[in-house]
Amino acid sequence: MALRSLRLQLELLHNLGIRELYKPADSRAELLARLQAAYSTCVKCQLHTGRVKFVYGEGDPNATAMLIGEGPGEQENQTGRPFVGAAGKLLDDMLKAIQLTRSDVYICNIVKCRPPGNRDPEAAEREACLPYLLEQIDIIQPRLILLLGRVAAQTLLETTLSLEKLRSSTHEFQGIKTYVSYHPAALLRNPNWKRPAWEDLQKFRDDHLLLRK
Ligand code: URA
Ligand code: SF4
Repeated sequence: MALRSLRLQLELLHNLGIRELYKPADSRAELLARLQAAYSTCVKCQLHTGRVKFVYGEGDPNATAMLIGEGPGEQENQTGRPFVGAAGKLLDDMLKAIQLTRSDVYICNIVKCRPPGNRDPEAAEREACLPYLLEQIDIIQPRLILLLGRVAAQTLLETTLSLEKLRSSTHEFQGIKTYVSYHPAALLRNPNWKRPAWEDLQKFRDDHLLLRK
């Protein structure tokens, strides 16, 4: 009887045009890897025309914290890895200063393909790419998010407030405690911001210890 009803259900799905049943992934890592492969040829916005490599994200799929930047730069486009250029080196150092490495966290960006000449991603591009990030957040279920720079913060928090205003308090994104701080590339241009960035980072570190999964 049970088998008969299963067969009927499968027939129904088949008639509805569903030929392949959803196969659950064994783990977050496997699911992320499958999605990365599936989206790597995305043409949903014009940024695909400059893509050498799709930069999905990397790190611990079970991480307590997700770090989110703006979009791939030149080196990231060449390697397919987030934050590996000069800004990435500084990010590594910042993580080291709070006793973390990039494999302790999950690092990704608002847009997954490089904007030409590192210009800010346009609204249409951010909107087209955002579902991929929201899905990553859904899968990883971090306890903390650190938004690096104005573009990441304004996009995820859906606001036009300034970076200074946004970093003056923490936020909630879908119930997840969310920090906003300077983008490491901005810190390279403006060393004066390193001190306030360090203050942000220390608060983030304290929460990371408290909220560790
Ligand atoms: N800047 C970003 O915002 N993301 C990267 O991956 C590299 C530089
Ligand atoms: Fe697709 Fe995002 Fe790349 Fe645009 S930036 S083509 S939406 S993956």
